[in-house]
Amino acid sequence: MTPFNKPYLTGKETKYIEEAVASGKISGNGIFTQKCQKFFEDTYGFKKTLLTTSCTDALEMCAILADIKPEDEVIVPSYTFVSSALPFVRQNAKIVFADSYENNPNIDADKIEELITDKTKAIVVVHYAGIACDMEKILEITEKYNLILIEDAAQAIDSYYVFKNGTKKALGSIGHLGAFSFHETKNIISGEGGMLTINDEKFVNRAEIIWEKGTNRSMFFRGEINKYGWVDTGFFVFTK
Ligand SMILES: Cc1ncc(COP(=O)(O)O)c(C=O)c1O
Repeated sequence: MTPFNKPYLTGKETKYIEEAVASGKISGNGIFTQKCQKFFEDTYGFKKTLLTTSCTDALEMCAILADIKPEDEVIVPSYTFVSSALPFVRQNAKIVFADSYENNPNIDADKIEELITDKTKAIVVVHYAGIACDMEKILEITEKYNLILIEDAAQAIDSYYVFKNGTKKALGSIGHLGAFSFHETKNIISGEGGMLTINDEKFVNRAEIIWEKGTNRSMFFRGEINKYGWVDTGFFVFTK
């Protein structure tokens, strides 16, 4: 029997769990959450990161942040894990599948434009197995049609794209929003886990509010406000 994967452990996991328990705060956004978020922001140049319980959760946040509504169309690669499409299906959007290259499972950037209609709202790209999609061409298309670009970077931590002018950018830092997985099958793991990356300032506040279950609690903990409550950021959740 050949196992599909062996989770990589450094040997310090139990020590850190003990430290977290001893700190008296074991919910989210504690010292380890903040250390991880800072590490990823500093190392890979993401404008803002929020740790989530999975990449699927991070993609669900992307669908809410992109304000995906029924009738909207979202272009998704046909070769991917179900979570690339599911969060947009939950918003009752129409999924428009884009084909892969003949010799590579990534979305064929030359086949995207023909799928765009006046209902297209977002494009999801998947950097399959950490191999970058053609981000230069895809950025051109998203800018031309004013679409939201979401990178499903579940498998792409510590992978990069080099632009024609030599600029090198970490995958997950190029689109408006990105999502990573730390599931035990990935290169950096936490059992189950994920991360939302926000690269466009205009999504940062709402992302933090969605992350805090519709409240401005993060602002309260930073001492920016003296009490916290629900905030209506106008985001849309589809209910039948
Ligand atoms: C491309 C892709 N997107 C999303 C996911 C979902 O990740 P998670 O299990 O962290 O929700 C995976 C998991 O393998 C994946 O490969």
